[in-house]
Order: sequence, then structure tokens, then C-alpha cells
Amino acid sequence: MSNLFPSSHPLVAHKLTKLRDVATQPKKFRELVREIAGLLTYEVTADLPTVPRAAQTPMGTANGVELSEKIGLIPILRAGLGMVEGVWELIPNAEVWHIGLYRDERTLKPVEYYNKLPVAPTVDVCLVLDPMLATGGSAVATIDILKRWGAKKIKFVGILAAPEGIATLHGKHPDVPIHIAAVDSHLNEIGYIVPGLGDAGDRQFGTG
Ligand code: PRP
Ligand code: URA
Repeated sequence: MSNLFPSSHPLVAHKLTKLRDVATQPKKFRELVREIAGLLTYEVTADLPTVPRAAQTPMGTANGVELSEKIGLIPILRAGLGMVEGVWELIPNAEVWHIGLYRDERTLKPVEYYNKLPVAPTVDVCLVLDPMLATGGSAVATIDILKRWGAKKIKFVGILAAPEGIATLHGKHPDVPIHIAAVDSHLNEIGYIVPGLGDAGDRQFGTG
């Protein structure tokens, strides 16, 4: 699939293995989510446009660049929150707009509970942050919201994806690239990614 970008970086794979481990406690889990998000930021931003900007050095003038587009981070509550700091370390001026969705345990459909987006888009690029792309329902619902808002350029950044979620997201929003640490085998009968890492929200917030 051309719009799917699984990371091939050894550091990402190394940290992901620790993240999956059932023995990893919430403090370490949050640290790893933040670090993997930072590493994925390097990959997802590789095509951001720049404009020329000169820098005055102590020795002269260097021809440099600066980013030309405003970046927005859209963490899907709750689990996407843990990725924000990792991205912010590299893009400190990014705006953060939260979307609150939870997955109904019975239907597996997303239920929206928080959205305070302003009337018109304030950013040029939206990075949707959520560690888990399972059925794809939450990502599709969030991107639906962003497109209704008027967002033109949207990218999904996650940690683990199931093939089912990738197919759904590509089907509904083929223009949205998926940047992911790894693609797993399948979803189980209750919609969890296998082998996955369990519940990303519970493992971050110690609520499992
Ligand atoms: C998890 C995860 C995604 C969603 C993925 O959130 O963080 O948002 O499930 O599943 P989907 O692709 O099938 O929609 P959850 O609904 O458990 O909420 P939480 O982050 O508040 O725990
Ligand atoms: N949400 C999670 O947190 N984990 C999964 O495996 C699927 C959805």
C-alpha cells in the first residue's frame, strides 16, 4: 500500500519491543510512547516544505531554511495524549487540538465526547496522534471531523496498526498517509490488536 509508512528504524523496533512487554510499568510505558512518537516525528515530517531563511553566524551569513507550514497535533483522547510531548520536543510551536473519542466495547464504534476546534482551521498540516489503529473507526471519525473543519493536509501517526484498520482508513481517506512503528497480525474477537500491547490508554494511565 503506497500510503503506508511502517518505520524500519532499529531504535523504534527496540523501544517497541519494550513497550509491548507485559512487565513494562506505566512510568516506563509513558516514556517509551513519548520516545517512539519523537522518532516517528522525524519520519512523518520528512516532506514538510521550507522557505529560505538566512542565519547570521559569528563568521558570516549561512543560507538556511525554516518550516513554511503551521503544524497542528490532534491527539485522540486518551491514549494519543502520551504522544504529544514526544512530537512537541521537536516541533515546540505546534498547536494541539484534542479530540475525545472512546470505542464502545460492544459495537467497537467510536463515540465522540470532546471537540473544541475553532470555527476555521488554524493550521496547515494536521498530525493525528493515536498509538493504536485497530478497526480504524476512531481514526476515520477523527479525520472526518478534521475534514469537515476544513483541514486540507492530514497525516496519521501511530505506534501499532492492524491490517483491518489500515484497510478501513485507506478506504475512507486514501489521501491520508499512515506513519506507524509496526503493522501487526490481526484483530482478535474483541477488537484488540494481536500481538499488540494490550490497552494503550490503560497501560499509560495505570487504569488497567
Ligand atoms: C483506543 C485507541 C484508539 C482506539 C483504536 O482508545 O487509543 O483510539 O482504541 O481502536 P479503533 O481503531 O478500533 O477505533 P479507547 O477507545 O480504548 O479509548 P482510551 O484511549 O480513552 O482508552
Ligand atoms: N485499543 C487499544 O488500546 N488496544 C488495542 O489493541 C485495540 C484498541
